[in-house]
Amino acid sequence: MTKKKLPVIISGVLLGISILVFTAAVIYLHAANSEKTLIVYFTRVGNTDFSENVDAVSSASLRRNLSGELEGNCEVMANTLKKATGADIFAITVDDKYPESYEETVSRASEEQSDNARPDLSATVENMDKYEKIILIYPVWWSTMPMPVFTFLESCDLSGKDIYPISTHKGSFLGSSVDDIEKLCPDSEVHAGVPIAGGSVDYKRREDTSLGIV
Ligand SMILES: Cc1cc2nc3c(=O)[nH]c(=O)nc-3n(C[C@H](O)[C@H](O)[C@H](O)COP(=O)(O)O)c2cc1C
Repeated sequence: MTKKKLPVIISGVLLGISILVFTAAVIYLHAANSEKTLIVYFTRVGNTDFSENVDAVSSASLRRNLSGELEGNCEVMANTLKKATGADIFAITVDDKYPESYEETVSRASEEQSDNARPDLSATVENMDKYEKIILIYPVWWSTMPMPVFTFLESCDLSGKDIYPISTHKGSFLGSSVDDIEKLCPDSEVHAGVPIAGGSVDYKRREDTSLGIV
């Protein structure tokens, strides 16, 4: 290969990736732009009783939004999609909250996964029948979804519905989550997932770097 061809090949690859990402975004927004779409999300912040003075700077994976509130990556994703589309939204929440400590949460999540546990949920979706499309947003925990998301998928009848998975993660992308969703929902149409790096879901950093999103 000549040196002259290399920039052309790199540009072609980058263009290809951009087209793929754009197409995925359009498909997801189209899926969300409907009264028959429900955005379902799970996030660590909404499932942990943090003390008021928890340190969002030194605590791994925790940050505050511009109003000073703790906010999870998946929550930001879910609310952004809701604002863009007007679709209904539902947060998966557990009865037994996770510990404030990141390390203890990681340990408990590991035990839940080894036990193939189904943690009890504190809320259910009303009128699931009216939805045809489910946008499912979750953090990757131990290379798949948190076990409460397994509980959710098993406890609802999602047969005949389209499921659009979106993960936020720290390097595992989707892990085995899409395969797991297919196993849990054999009668649903499970679409290719979209993984989003958790660190890129960060309003505060964007404000600091003057990208203008505040
Ligand atoms: C219990 C636990 C396990 C995790 N396991 C993984 C993992 O296996 N792979 C990965 O890429 N990220 C992992 N993460 C990081 C989260 O997926 C990531 O920080 C995510 O964006 C958090 O979303 P949230 O703020 O909505 O909870 C883990 C986080 C926690 C708390």
